[in-house]
Amino acid sequence: MKLSATFTALLSLVPFAVAQQAAWGQCGGIGWTGATTCVSGYACVETNEYYSQCIPSSSAPTSSSSQGGGTPTTTSSGGGATSTAGLNSAAKAAGKMYFGTATDESEFGSDAAYAAILKETTEFGQLTPLNSMKWDSTEPERGTFTFTAGDQLVAEAKANGQIVRGHNCVWYNQLPSWVTSGNFNTTALTSIIQTHCSTLVSHFKGEILYAWDVINEPFNDDGTWRSDVFYNTLGTSYVSIGLNAARPADPSAKLYINDYNIENTGAKATAMVNLVSSLKAAGVPIDGVGFQCHFIVGEVSTTMQTVMEQMTALGVEVAITELDIRMTLPSTTALLAQQQKDYETVISQCKAVSGCIGATVWDFTDKYSWVPSTFSGQGDACPWDSNLVKKPAHDGIVAGF
Ligand code: XIL
Repeated sequence: MKLSATFTALLSLVPFAVAQQAAWGQCGGIGWTGATTCVSGYACVETNEYYSQCIPSSSAPTSSSSQGGGTPTTTSSGGGATSTAGLNSAAKAAGKMYFGTATDESEFGSDAAYAAILKETTEFGQLTPLNSMKWDSTEPERGTFTFTAGDQLVAEAKANGQIVRGHNCVWYNQLPSWVTSGNFNTTALTSIIQTHCSTLVSHFKGEILYAWDVINEPFNDDGTWRSDVFYNTLGTSYVSIGLNAARPADPSAKLYINDYNIENTGAKATAMVNLVSSLKAAGVPIDGVGFQCHFIVGEVSTTMQTVMEQMTALGVEVAITELDIRMTLPSTTALLAQQQKDYETVISQCKAVSGCIGATVWDFTDKYSWVPSTFSGQGDACPWDSNLVKKPAHDGIVAGF
């Protein structure tokens, strides 16, 4: 009895004593119990108190900031953007890990001008797949997995030197009909979620895969649980089933729950705080909460910082995951100026919370934004216009950092 306890204790020390973290992997931060030194040629650099990362020694900062972007010029309000700073550079100068954008090969694969902006790491240090890792794309038939488009997104990020947020494992939307209409019992649906999450997450496992939105949009706006095939069959347990399947599939990925309308204090934000709290208490793996931030010009949240602080107090990190700020078309100079202020308001709340590790826009250009096709009569929600020209909103983001 005594011997085996000693042996177990010793064993548990071994990996920490000898392992060195791989390139781009985590090497420190609050709650981190893994390796704190990096493989040869890489240095462990603190991004914020929650995260240190192995980055090439050649690009590790020596004394002052090496990222630039600290002193942007932001004088415009009506015309185009005037800031010379890049969004990712500004985020890093503010101590964040990244500024990123959602995209997919369907866009960067056939639009050279778009792709040229996408690969500028002064602007974007992180990519999220718009659609290519969703259930209907990755497991259109039970047990048949197709990763081509997701692999293209990851290859693009790798070629550009960007990290990736996986999106997503379990969501009521963009779900193939074999899942929604299968009439599965609890045992079968549990196994289906486990297989989907673990196959998806393990396929994309790698040094640039930073985080996964394991659970997407679990709540209704009043904070009650969304009625979908997962909740209706398994109750709230589907959340832990997904998270528990994702953890061993990629132990170094941060596991998130992601939702919208949790940015304002209120019933839905409270429901998310309570969920994270109960998962933590039950020992279910949960590392982060994503604030989607699909906002309307003139109506952005000013209480997001409070909600973010409630989350980080529970020991999870937070991120802005799908930011865009739409307006009723046509756009005017005044609306674009308000949008600039709104972007600044949103970003400055992430800046103020040390556990807010980064921000992602849900595509960077109005050319491809999902808004016009989803919200009738609305659009122009992104920091670049449909001609790929920077808008005042770009300055607003820089000013927010
Ligand atoms: C959207 C995509 O942008 C669209 O192309 C697709 O038709 C529908 O889904 N919340 C999310 C994202 O978590 O996955 C959604 O993306 C936007 C809302």
